Amino acid sequence: MSRYAYVNGAFLPHGQAVVHVEDRGYQFADAVYEVWAVIDGRLADFAGHITRLGRSMDELQIEHPMSGAALLNVLRETVRRNRIRFGLCYIQISRGTARRDHPFPDPPVPPSVVITCKPLDRAAMEAKAKRGVAVVTQPDIRWGRCDIKTVSLLPNILAKQAAKERGAAEAWLVDDMGLVTEGSSTNAWIVDADGALRTRDAQSNILRGITRHNLIEVAKEAGVKIVEKPFSVDEAKTAKEAFFTAASAFLTPVVSIDGTKIGDGKPGPLTTRLRQLYFDQAAELAV
Ligand code: PDD
Repeated sequence: MSRYAYVNGAFLPHGQAVVHVEDRGYQFADAVYEVWAVIDGRLADFAGHITRLGRSMDELQIEHPMSGAALLNVLRETVRRNRIRFGLCYIQISRGTARRDHPFPDPPVPPSVVITCKPLDRAAMEAKAKRGVAVVTQPDIRWGRCDIKTVSLLPNILAKQAAKERGAAEAWLVDDMGLVTEGSSTNAWIVDADGALRTRDAQSNILRGITRHNLIEVAKEAGVKIVEKPFSVDEAKTAKEAFFTAASAFLTPVVSIDGTKIGDGKPGPLTTRLRQLYFDQAAELAV
């Protein structure tokens, strides 16, 4: 099936969808992005991601290219043209195109906007969630502003590749104190020895995941005790359950960390329950 991308005001066949060689996203990673899950052709957690996108642009002083309402229209149209029922929708906004020079262009140039979509294999994702996945740990070598969702992802990519080469689905990044920060493209969670849901606090240097935020609300409603506090690699390895969250993963159960089995080596009951609750809510509220 043909794929289409939105590039600066036009919907183009995927093969012809290009930005300029002097786009600052391309040359400097001077760009921000967001990823939405698409469920039944609709965008999940729309408001959360659009709010974070605005914040990322504000933090980097990138001009907003259009209103949230206009963006929603363009995102929906990209989903529609690509006939995505279940998949992902990606937006990237760069500071724009200008002769290569480190400071911001002066006078400013319009930001570049690119949107792409891809389908996901829902049955394969469900099967993966039923089996659970392996993660490995990697040192967290990223910069101090991981709360901004920039396309500057080289440390994340190296960590994910290291995980892949070791047969794992994700790398959990570890700080100098031996505490897990987050995954290379996900937030990290455990069910600790007391049965509480543990994830690192969002005040520290992590991406404040939208799935993370909404799952906390879902878990609270379900009466689950939540502790927003970092956990060590040892605590993770001896946890009752473990999982990670992202728009691209929902809740994905973790059944081993660096080869150490978590619990009985199967997705835990709380993880499985929360995955369903989160998914049902996300599907219901998708726009
Ligand atoms: N990644 N932490 C990092 C470093 C991430 O890159 C992501 C998302 C998350 C989870 O955030 P959210 O729940 O808002 O998707 C946490 C996206 C999916 C990606 O890079 O493809």
